[in-house]
Amino acid sequence: LNPSHSLISLFFLACSSQTGGQPQTFKTFYPPDWGLTHLAIHNKTGEVYVGSVNWIFKLSSNLTKLRSHMTGPVVDNEKCYPPPSVQSCPHDLAQTSNVNKLLLIDYAQNRLIACGSTSQGICQFLRLDDLFKLGEPHHRKEHYLSSVAESGTMSGVIITSPHGPASKLFIGTPIDGKSEYFPTLSSRKLMANEENADMFSFVYQDEFVSSQLKIPSDTLSKFPAFDIYYIYSFSSEQFVYYLTMQLDTQLTSPDASGEQFFTSKIVRLCVDDPKFYSYVEFPIGCTKDGVEYRLIQDAYLSRPGKQLADSLSISEDEDILFTVFSQGQKNRAKPPKESALCLFTLRRIKEKIKERIQSCYRGEGRLSLPWLLNKELACINSVSPCDPLSDSLIQFTAFQIPHIKFTLILIICHALFREH
Ligand SMILES: *[C@@H]1O[C@H](CO)[C@@H](O)[C@H](O)[C@H]1NC(C)=O
Ligand SMILES: *[C@@H]1O[C@H](CO)[C@@H](O)[C@H](O)[C@H]1NC(C)=O
Repeated sequence: LNPSHSLISLFFLACSSQTGGQPQTFKTFYPPDWGLTHLAIHNKTGEVYVGSVNWIFKLSSNLTKLRSHMTGPVVDNEKCYPPPSVQSCPHDLAQTSNVNKLLLIDYAQNRLIACGSTSQGICQFLRLDDLFKLGEPHHRKEHYLSSVAESGTMSGVIITSPHGPASKLFIGTPIDGKSEYFPTLSSRKLMANEENADMFSFVYQDEFVSSQLKIPSDTLSKFPAFDIYYIYSFSSEQFVYYLTMQLDTQLTSPDASGEQFFTSKIVRLCVDDPKFYSYVEFPIGCTKDGVEYRLIQDAYLSRPGKQLADSLSISEDEDILFTVFSQGQKNRAKPPKESALCLFTLRRIKEKIKERIQSCYRGEGRLSLPWLLNKELACINSVSPCDPLSDSLIQFTAFQIPHIKFTLILIICHALFREH
């Protein structure tokens, strides 16, 4: 699995354990086979939920193991679709490890959502208290999220709605070429009852439109390796954001003979836009001493401590996106060890997106999503439902900025560690 992912997660765990006052002695937790893939920290109890290969753990805030729940190995074959529980599979079945790919705390229902790699990516609901399995929906095709077994490539955000019975789950996932089965990005109904037949169905669906984005088969026939990896996601105000990595279709030659180049993007959607008209993506990366870092490895949205805020001349209330990038644009699967920790203020990211939309409306921009449509789009003047009315210039369908990089604030690790 991806060691850098585990490392950065542990790093943030260390940070979070120090925010509550006196620095504590450093605690450690070793999963049995070192296959740590995800963690989620309860914002009230401080308890830590850890996803790994074949196991989910619950730890106390001091990293003492309290509970464990086994999720695999299970009898499976990744070529079976739908999973054998629904239809018999013509391929040989074997004991297959279940890699945890998504681990989210659903505060509204007091449960954990843990999605794995087996059976085309189905999810378990576990009670937060004791990891008791509440359900594992697997009867409808919407229950299968994607069978890609690589961790750190799928990401989700829960949006709890104050009115309405269902929360929403935004899911971004690679699809391994199976665009007929899996959307790369979608928003799903998150029902209170795990057995509810509507669980994970699209928030909106009619004959023509639904709450999902598919990678077009055109794109896949031209670039068979094309996929989108969702590294991190978060919500802020009326938006959901994703940090993604994907093949750079402008630098990579279609015939797959040459070298592959990758690019990282920040993706934004309006929470209340069930038809995904507000989809926006924007290249993101950073430079340090003239060297480009373009391969996103992990990220975390947080507030700075006092010292960091002072040294950056920003307020302690400012949302900061801490990101780790590897050097260059090659080798997604085995990124260069040379990496940089880059900090972006969310305020600046929002300003950048707004500036870009405004310049598009002045006729200076192209609204292209080369991977999605393979053609240029004009600035279509559709009102996106979450735009504040006073901000009437932000009305759009989708756009992309070719290779504009933020170079806001770049700090290598020691600058952050001065904090402690
Ligand atoms: C914890 O997170 C949930 C969901 O984001 C939020 O509704 C709740 O207010 C948070 N609680 C605390 C104590 O921060
Ligand atoms: C760690 O947490 C557990 C459970 O909350 C508690 O029983 C234990 O005493 C704690 N250990 C230390 C060293 O603080």
